[in-house]
Amino acid sequence: MGDPYFQRLFAERIGGASYGKGTDIYKFEKIKRAKRQALADHPERTLLDFGIGENDGMAPDDVRRAMAEEIGKPENRGYADNGIQAFKDAAARFMQRFYGVTLDPVTEVNHSIGGKPALAMVPACFINPGDVTLMTVPGYPVTGTHTRYYGGEVHRLPLRREHGFFPDLDGIPADVKRRAKLLVLNYPNSPTGVVATRDFYTRVVDFARTHRIVVVQDAIHGCLTFEGEPLSFLAVPGAKDVGIEIHSMSKGFDMIGWRLGWFCGHPRLVQALADVKDNSDSGQFIAIQKAAIAALDDPSIPLRTRDKYRRRLEKLVAMLGRCGFTCEMPGGTYFLYVPAPRGAADGRTFENAEAASQYLIHEHSIVTVPWDDAGPHLRFSVTYEAADERAEDALMGAAEERLRAIRPVF
Ligand SMILES: Cc1ncc(COP(=O)(O)O)c(C=O)c1O
Repeated sequence: MGDPYFQRLFAERIGGASYGKGTDIYKFEKIKRAKRQALADHPERTLLDFGIGENDGMAPDDVRRAMAEEIGKPENRGYADNGIQAFKDAAARFMQRFYGVTLDPVTEVNHSIGGKPALAMVPACFINPGDVTLMTVPGYPVTGTHTRYYGGEVHRLPLRREHGFFPDLDGIPADVKRRAKLLVLNYPNSPTGVVATRDFYTRVVDFARTHRIVVVQDAIHGCLTFEGEPLSFLAVPGAKDVGIEIHSMSKGFDMIGWRLGWFCGHPRLVQALADVKDNSDSGQFIAIQKAAIAALDDPSIPLRTRDKYRRRLEKLVAMLGRCGFTCEMPGGTYFLYVPAPRGAADGRTFENAEAASQYLIHEHSIVTVPWDDAGPHLRFSVTYEAADERAEDALMGAAEERLRAIRPVF
């Protein structure tokens, strides 16, 4: 089949005339294919899926009830534009109650259709060709992708175990610092599971002020904080002068498919992002915003979600430890990030985490997500489907049996 006439019209940012012809397969697609293959090759073996990055639970009953009611109200039917004030008020109440952060709900908060679109739109506010976005890796790449779309560059800040999974801000070359406009952080961090400290955030505020850089802190996993009290970047003195924080209903409230979040911080930053947003979408369905108010005002929901994933992570850490993995309880998120095995007792070796992950899926029907950006690691997620604690324990038992048989070598 020949190319369509528009093949030569694709923009360079998505590959130009070569768009759609590459053979590179995106990591998550490789995992999906390997999963399908494992299921086909071994229908008798239960797939132990630690690869999913989405909550397994439904949104709470009272939130779904609120949604059912709101969906029938004529006043909720139209464009929401930049969001209803009642949702912004609820987000501000939540920020006060959960993080001790005071926000003006009119000027310092705005809704978004989840965290992802907000992260995608930030570069539109700041990036001209040649500007730099500082991004931690491994991490959520969306702001970097859009930085490149605008002709900007991404400077990667590796998160290494030996630095506690914090970026080395002092090590950034002077030329890069001069051109940098954005610093994207994510704590609690996915995938490393580390939570930020006040001391780190204080250094970030100093760094941003000194080098005139805007901080974008992705707090998507904020409700899933196990170590210490949940900490918002905006709780640190001076943070609101240098940045913005992005929050979401996805992880802490089991509302991942509902697509709702908010950004908050310096009013001028909120305004800029809201302006770009207003030119990109027409807001989330008002019924969803109203149901989310019920969720935000119920303090038991994020605590319940946190306790469930903490319990599952504790079981996972204990089980993997018994199988020879080096791991400890993460400070937050529903992920466990562990050094990947370099081989197995039968003499096979893995050149990187991706090879280890492919082996685990194909040969043992155990799904993990590999990361090789800052040393070979595997990410285990505890968002697997299990109806109750007995089912969780059974899943852990099956995983332990398979992993012990492999006798991974590190
Ligand atoms: C680190 C991180 N940031 C942002 C997102 C996007 O979240 P949302 O569902 O709010 O778009 C995710 C989702 O997995 C994430 O892991």
